[in-house]
Amino acid sequence: MKGTRDHILITGGAGFVGSNLAHALLRDGERVIVADNFSRDGVRLNAQWLRGQHGDRVRIEQVDVCDADRIGALVRQSKQVFHLAAQVAVTTSLDDPRTDLQTNILGTFNVLEAARAMDDSPPVLFTSTNKVYGGMDDVKVELAGDAYRYADRRAGVGEDARLDFHSPYGCSKGAADQYVHDYARIYGLRTVVFRMSCIYGTRQFGTEDQGWVAHFGRALFGREPITIYGDGCQVRDILWIDDLVEAMRLAMGRIDTVAGQVFNVGGGAANAVTVRGVIDRLIEITGRSVPVRMAEWRPGDQRIYVSDNAKLERVLGWKPRTSWKAGLENLVDWLREADLMSPVPSLAAEADEALLAQAAAVP
Ligand SMILES: NC(=O)c1ccc[n+]([C@@H]2O[C@H](COP(=O)([O-])OP(=O)(O)OC[C@H]3O[C@@H](n4cnc5c(N)ncnc54)[C@H](O)[C@@H]3O)[C@@H](O)[C@H]2O)c1
Repeated sequence: MKGTRDHILITGGAGFVGSNLAHALLRDGERVIVADNFSRDGVRLNAQWLRGQHGDRVRIEQVDVCDADRIGALVRQSKQVFHLAAQVAVTTSLDDPRTDLQTNILGTFNVLEAARAMDDSPPVLFTSTNKVYGGMDDVKVELAGDAYRYADRRAGVGEDARLDFHSPYGCSKGAADQYVHDYARIYGLRTVVFRMSCIYGTRQFGTEDQGWVAHFGRALFGREPITIYGDGCQVRDILWIDDLVEAMRLAMGRIDTVAGQVFNVGGGAANAVTVRGVIDRLIEITGRSVPVRMAEWRPGDQRIYVSDNAKLERVLGWKPRTSWKAGLENLVDWLREADLMSPVPSLAAEADEALLAQAAAVP
């Protein structure tokens, strides 16, 4: 059995984070299984791109994480598991909380149970979210000029912040986060949880519901209006994708050090920027303008979220390398190159059933 366990499994591997992680691993000679149900618009393009770049070294499996048997079979073939597949938008979770729960809780449970059933179980890294800290209404926030700031948490939010699941998405990711964390404690599995801030970058088919930085970039090219919910002074610590991928790989590489731990991972105080600041910078880079509409705050929206990355820096020596200004330039370069400037990506790749036909049947 050991001989066949030379793959790294990425659930949700065709998504934004997954395809970037897969690319980095494949570039370094690893064999990767991308397991995805392709429910996210546009992500078939990512799978196609991975296949084009890496040929047969990437195995692409169309599978739902709710399918315990098939996911279990893939976990059993893997030496490491990055569990990313998820229903990712708060808004969608409000409309359809059942699918959100099934994907995020049951899907995660399936991965954990498959690993638990093995003698030599692979380590599991889970991508959680800062949404597990809820609206943080107990944290004092003040408006300073055109940006919110913490009154007395200048370094940002640490892992000791109070858990407060808000919205079905917050509840489902939060429950999964706790399961993953506890499986290390209760069953000795080597798991690690990343509570991530807003990540942005190449291969992101962002919408205003999730992936708003890339959405803004594409809107600017398509001259589509942008809607700001709230006053635009809300602050996010945005993190460039390559920096996240580096942190994920570092954590997996030192799993015996980080197993059983939770880390906040974001751009940190140096990359904290307002929503308006992102739009202004994109306008500056592209020289284009875009109509901006204002709308009411959305439920659970934090006035400010900035991750304190100190723990990850202390344990793994990681910190973000890409400044938010440089990252936005990288993003615009990719949008130009990839010709993905319209807000809705071409779904021509949907027609490429050949891609999926090549996917090996799960033994
Ligand atoms: N991007 C961010 O800013 C951010 C922030 C915090 C946490 N996260 C988490 O990181 C992970 C990756 O996010 P992303 O930005 O790459 O999102 P994404 O939507 O691009 O990727 C998620 C992938 O999961 C797939 N998927 C959805 N439901 C599935 C199912 N039932 N079975 C199999 N595959 C399924 C989708 O098709 C998609 O390819 C998610 O777990 C998300 O909650 C992302």
